[in-house]
Amino acid sequence: MKVIHTEADWNKYWLDCIKTDKNIGLVPTMGALHQGHLDLVRQAKSSTDIVIASIFVNPTQFNNQEDFDNYPITLEQDLEKLEKEKVDYVFVPDTDTMYPSQPKLSIDFGELERVLEGAFRPGHFNGVGIIVAKLFNIIRPHKAFFGQKDLQQTGIIKRLVSDLSIPVQLEIVPTRREKDGLAMSSRNVRLSQEERQASLLLYSSLTKAKEELLAKQPWLKVQQQIHRDFEQAPLAKLEYFELIHPESFEGYSEFDLKQKSSICVAAYIGNVRLIDNLPIIP
Ligand code: PAF
Repeated sequence: MKVIHTEADWNKYWLDCIKTDKNIGLVPTMGALHQGHLDLVRQAKSSTDIVIASIFVNPTQFNNQEDFDNYPITLEQDLEKLEKEKVDYVFVPDTDTMYPSQPKLSIDFGELERVLEGAFRPGHFNGVGIIVAKLFNIIRPHKAFFGQKDLQQTGIIKRLVSDLSIPVQLEIVPTRREKDGLAMSSRNVRLSQEERQASLLLYSSLTKAKEELLAKQPWLKVQQQIHRDFEQAPLAKLEYFELIHPESFEGYSEFDLKQKSSICVAAYIGNVRLIDNLPIIP
């Protein structure tokens, strides 16, 4: 496994891949790798010839300085994990490499980012769009792999690729959960024991709401009940709990078995902000 830091280094290896007709798979990450990331890597290994993972904690996608400062960094362990998975290359650029100057461009994804994460984290998807476009331009992968846990991010990136005609195929990999249902996230390591316990409310509220919807309970009633459950949990603070169309992210006020739908949740558990989602009608 080769660890590279600059675009110029990668260009040499990229040329070798292209000359030998190899398909390149990119797994973009911000490090602090867990099994969910390794699922992306395994999916990449099984559907491309050469796998490159990137590790870069992208400052422009953090709308909250404290969140950026506290983002876990575990480079040495990450490299060990990737080596075990037989990843071919790891791209670990520094901030000056990715941002030789502050971008003047900003990307507005329109109504796709007026809701959910976009509404609660202003500027977040601009930062995601810019860094992912930069990674695609530098690495030039045939395929790129993203996790379903960041459902709105996957929608934004699909749109980036289609609006800018970027020649890359996207693969979305299902959310990996702990045995008790908590969606794996790099932020989970910041939870205290008590908060870890409280964090179960995210997944349990998703499954409870799904059951109730399928039992024909009206969505607004289900949503109100979940808001009350969160109000009664001392360590939890709900930001949103919405029933949406999983591609347009438009909110529904009623559940309809004939329409694609997912529920998305975001909540603070202590100081740690977590998100999750569950498809109801895929
Ligand atoms: O999902 C993430 O880890 C990040 O948002 C990504 C796609 C690597 C961009 O920084």
